[in-house]
Amino acid sequence: MDIKIAQTTDYNKILEFAFDNGVEYDETNKCYINEPFFALELTSDNDLIGSASICKSKVGDYILEQLAVKEEYRHKGYATQLIKTILRRMKELNIKKIYLIAHVYEIYLKNGFEFYNNNDKDYLISDNCLNCDLYINKECIPRIMTIDL
Ligand SMILES: CC(C)(COP(=O)(O)OP(=O)(O)OC[C@H]1O[C@@H](n2cnc3c(N)ncnc32)[C@H](O)[C@@H]1OP(=O)(O)O)[C@@H](O)C(=O)NCCC(=O)NCCS
Repeated sequence: MDIKIAQTTDYNKILEFAFDNGVEYDETNKCYINEPFFALELTSDNDLIGSASICKSKVGDYILEQLAVKEEYRHKGYATQLIKTILRRMKELNIKKIYLIAHVYEIYLKNGFEFYNNNDKDYLISDNCLNCDLYINKECIPRIMTIDL
């Protein structure tokens, strides 16, 4: 089994993969909300099994998005490898801070992210997310997290 992480500019493939593998999206608006800037694909013998991307918001914040690993490959550390690789690449590009909107927190806490407790980045959480049944029923509480590079 040949497992590799590589950069890709096929942002549509990454989006499709992430949505097919558990990243939440709005059925009526199945597209990037922020502009894709950088993406990684994780492959096993050339099959796509994981994804991560960095997108740039309209005010210039960099956001980790589309983090997903195919179900049968989970809990083997692949998402951690994707996070570490993408953060290293962003640091090389002299980017100082990364944000994300977390629905699960533990993996990000384990990788150095902290909860962002100011409200000036609340714009990152879309109205679609706040109108979602999972949010209304308190089954999913999105939180902004951040890391300094
Ligand atoms: C979240 C996800 C990317 C993790 O992928 P993974 O390759 O299994 O992650 P890792 O093996 O690197 O996990 C490392 C640790 O993170 C934590 N973690 C992983 N998945 C988690 C989850 N769904 N919820 C909470 N913590 C999680 C665990 O502590 C895990 O350690 P463990 O395997 O010893 O339990 C994967 O479950 C996934 O694709 N989920 C659907 C999409 C999604 O929710 N993306 C994130 C949106 S915020």
